[in-house]
Amino acid sequence: MSKQFDVIVIGGGPGGYVAAIRAAQLGFSVACIDEWKNEKGGPAPGGTCTNVGCIPSKALLQSSEHFDHANHGFAEHGIEVKGVKLNLAQMLGRKDGVVKQNNDGILYLFKKNKVSFFHGRGSFAKAADGLYEIEVAGASADTLTAKQVIVATGSSPRALSNAPFDEKLILSNTGALAIDAVPKKLGVIGAGVIGLEMGSVWRRLGAQVTVLEALPTFLGAADETIAKEAHKLFAKQGLDIQMGVKIGEIKSGKDVSIEYTDAKGESHKLSVDKLIVSIGRVPNTTGLNAEAVGLALDERGFIAVDEHCRTNLPNVWAVGDVVRGPMLAHKAEEEGVAVAERIAGQHGHVNFATIPWVIYTSPEIAWVGRTEQQLKADGVAYKAGAFPFLANGRARALGDTSGMVKVLADAKTDEILGVHIIGPMASELISEAVVAMEFRASSEDIARICHAHPTLSEATKEAALAVDKRSLNF
Ligand code: FAD
Ligand code: NAI
Repeated sequence: MSKQFDVIVIGGGPGGYVAAIRAAQLGFSVACIDEWKNEKGGPAPGGTCTNVGCIPSKALLQSSEHFDHANHGFAEHGIEVKGVKLNLAQMLGRKDGVVKQNNDGILYLFKKNKVSFFHGRGSFAKAADGLYEIEVAGASADTLTAKQVIVATGSSPRALSNAPFDEKLILSNTGALAIDAVPKKLGVIGAGVIGLEMGSVWRRLGAQVTVLEALPTFLGAADETIAKEAHKLFAKQGLDIQMGVKIGEIKSGKDVSIEYTDAKGESHKLSVDKLIVSIGRVPNTTGLNAEAVGLALDERGFIAVDEHCRTNLPNVWAVGDVVRGPMLAHKAEEEGVAVAERIAGQHGHVNFATIPWVIYTSPEIAWVGRTEQQLKADGVAYKAGAFPFLANGRARALGDTSGMVKVLADAKTDEILGVHIIGPMASELISEAVVAMEFRASSEDIARICHAHPTLSEATKEAALAVDKRSLNF
């Protein structure tokens, strides 16, 4: 006999597990199906983000930063340390521990909210009488039915056609988070978010890192001023980033050799101990048996949805990486919550204009809203103000003065149109800008708000003052 629920969620990543919890809070009976397995074959909900994405990458980022500070930063503070040694096994073990805490936390939240969890692969079997039948294959093999289905199956790394992932020499994000000895030479293909974050981690741990990027422009999605500053700082740190390359033959044996032509068309051969390929991700739709019910995909293979995450099928919704829009955990979560609320007849909403972006390099890069180049292209008259961390007291005390805050505001109304930060704790600082933009604040609003002293956030206030050319400390 099949088990019946009000809502079935397929996928237990940030989009799926949050949707399941919100739907349960709203009084629905909810099942969440997720197939991710831990090392022992047990359930590991949380998806890419928890298992091989946001969480483990930030755990390693923190550890590698501590190592870097101990080696290069402490002396300036008058702390002398001798014999700093890397215990990579401990570092990776800690990272695995952090991941497990998050997996366990989600299982606990399911229990607390009375979400029924099924460990296995969910696929559409049929649709009849307004009910969808979902088969679960795996540890919790079963047949479930529900009127409402939320698909949140996420994404997987895209491989180069001539270099499939073996996770030993040619690594996706999964292998890049589990290298068991620091490679002498590390190659990275793709200077996007993963390439820069993972390249920075392994550089700090001692690898010589070369990043090969196809596009001629560095970090094209970021504001040009910020991208230029980042390029300069990363090069100074020793990341060798080559733009405008064309990748040729890749051979792997004892090590990996990559043939490529540079921006001038000259041929090169790079030999590395390991190669990370981070050239984007593809939506997970295989295995869903979408054909059984006629669930439509768009031309790029994502599940086709409208702005409310409705698919072409009645009462079937899709959220997160498997649909259009930025592949970010917080975007997936917001969509998951909004869909649960729409199912309950409420007005769930996601404001795509105020989704923040963060790149967790050192220094961090964060932004919300439009870039200067986008405003120019859109023909919007704007004013800009910037403030460098070099002139911020807290940044000086921290010993981390690289970067700046830049505020872009409408020339007529002064409404904030974008805020762009490169510098210490940019990931935390950006929240003020998101709140301001959500409330449609003007740059003068931020300039008039009292910010605690000495804090990094004073740089945001000063950048807002600079929009009106009345910065106080620069
Ligand atoms: P996923 O997290 O991919 O979850 C989908 C889940 O569904 C998985 O558990 C999968 O196994 C399961 N599944 C798939 N098909 C089925 C099926 N048929 N049946 C059952 N289960 C199924 N984003 C940020 O915002 N901040 C970051 O710092 C950040 N860092 C990242 C670092 C790396 C290295 C990577 C790779 C990504 C990072 N991201 C980050 C992106 C973020 O991980 C994704 O945007 C987010 O995980 C998407 O959530 P999701 O729920 O849509 O999908
Ligand atoms: P990405 O889209 O950020 O970057 C891929 C890069 O590879 C691009 O610059 C692209 O031009 C380049 N590229 C593509 N094909 C190439 C080729 N053949 N040769 C050389 N370069 C090539 O994708 P990435 O880094 O794989 O990450 C995927 C997604 O995961 C991101 O877009 C982001 O949404 C998410 N993510 C988010 C993080 C965060 O929020 N901090 C961290 C890591 C990932």
